[in-house]
Amino acid sequence: MQEVDTPSTVKGVPLAPGDIPLLGHGPRLLRDPLDWLQECGRAEPVLRLRLGPRPAYLVCCRELVHDMLVGRVNSFDKGGSLLDRARDLLGNGLVTAGHTDHRRQRRLMQPAFTPARTDSYDEVIREESAALTRRWRAGQEIDVLPELTSVTAKILGRTLLPTIDDRDADHLSDCFQILLAGSFMRAAMPFTWIHRLPTPANRRYNRAWAGAWAVADQAVAKARAQSTSSGLLHALITAGEADPEGAFSDEELRDQVTTLFIAGTETTAGTLAWLFHLLTLHPYVTKRLHRELDEVLGGRLAGPDTFPRLPYTRAVLLETMRVYPVVALLTRASSTDVDLGGHLFPTGTDFFFSAYLLHHDPTVFPDPDRFDPDRWTSPAGPAVRRAFIPFGAGKRKCIGDSLALTQATVILSAIASRWHLTPAPGSHVRPRLRGTLTPAGLRLVTQARHSPRAGCGTPSQEG
Ligand code: HEM
Repeated sequence: MQEVDTPSTVKGVPLAPGDIPLLGHGPRLLRDPLDWLQECGRAEPVLRLRLGPRPAYLVCCRELVHDMLVGRVNSFDKGGSLLDRARDLLGNGLVTAGHTDHRRQRRLMQPAFTPARTDSYDEVIREESAALTRRWRAGQEIDVLPELTSVTAKILGRTLLPTIDDRDADHLSDCFQILLAGSFMRAAMPFTWIHRLPTPANRRYNRAWAGAWAVADQAVAKARAQSTSSGLLHALITAGEADPEGAFSDEELRDQVTTLFIAGTETTAGTLAWLFHLLTLHPYVTKRLHRELDEVLGGRLAGPDTFPRLPYTRAVLLETMRVYPVVALLTRASSTDVDLGGHLFPTGTDFFFSAYLLHHDPTVFPDPDRFDPDRWTSPAGPAVRRAFIPFGAGKRKCIGDSLALTQATVILSAIASRWHLTPAPGSHVRPRLRGTLTPAGLRLVTQARHSPRAGCGTPSQEG
């Protein structure tokens, strides 16, 4: 395996299981990511990985992960092979920026994500959710992930990025699916020259890249041309002009567009796709969820006013994010020499950490593979709060967490009030980690439900 760029391997750190000569751990990560992460387990606080072109380490222990994200955050900046590839796509946007640029960006973007602003997006979220469930017909086979990604992309376009219309939103999410998968492959495999060959996959990747950039550049140009406009881009342009650290360039704005699209669409859609998959496997949970939605909403869509009365719905969402965190693997790079788990790592060392690994720690979540929403019906203790990181932690925690939960709850209420989803004949679901962790092969069939009051319209046929 070709290992470039020092720092060199730190001695004494055990090698993670599943290493393949010449290819390292990449094939296991791409083929069966969850089994591999489970095998890495928690026996050692830190394991050595051969993943990507540089030596890297997997931090398995929740206290050390907490240290990286919160306690000693200034010693661990954004970096590592996954992030390097993400930077190819997202430039220097909020997800990928180093801590120094991040401070200014986050300060200027935060106002678009306050709870009051998130609540104000409620109407658009409801409209798009209702439109989705109206499009479906009883007995229809649904390719769940692209359907949900299309809705979240439209919502993002209509709320934060109004200079992107529905067609462009769909085009962007198609492009980003190709780009996310392609860049993850590039980060996981050691040979970089393969990706420069003129293969159909590499050509598709390059086309998707050009397509995404064209839409994002156009969105920025339109936002600059409009003197009065809503949306995040316009707010960033105005706030940047008044900011002592200077205005945003077109390139910086484009980076925020691509960042929000990648960070804010497939994540929420993937979480909901896992949720519907888990419901098909747990009829008792489905029944309780339907009962709560029917009793509280009576066929209407959920909204911020009804969220507090939907504790079981929230528990189902949290438990889904515990069992299948869509952002399952992340990286950091040390910005100083650091002592971690009794080993001394030099500046510039790449570290991986995994929410999936932490969420399946049996000392924190007994019987961790069991899908049990009742775990969340009483307040979480300190160990759970530290180990449960679907949105990350510390100053790089997801800026869109409450928007994501709002969207997910409304979309879930819209679908579950109206449709019962069952597995399509012959469908076979497998976890796929390509940037995000999603249920590949998930196809579900719609069956109409009766709810007490059909506020989002009556299904066209009864299933
Ligand atoms: C269920 C849905 C979502 C999940 C699971 C999720 C997960 C995450 C995680 C784990 C991080 C931290 C990354 C790290 O520490 O390196 C993050 C960051 C981020 N997320 Fe989300 N996210 C979701 C939805 C959203 C939405 C809806 C948006 C915006 C529309 C968004 C925008 C961002 C941004 C901009 C960052 C970077 C924050 C920063 O570094 O300051 N996310 N997300």
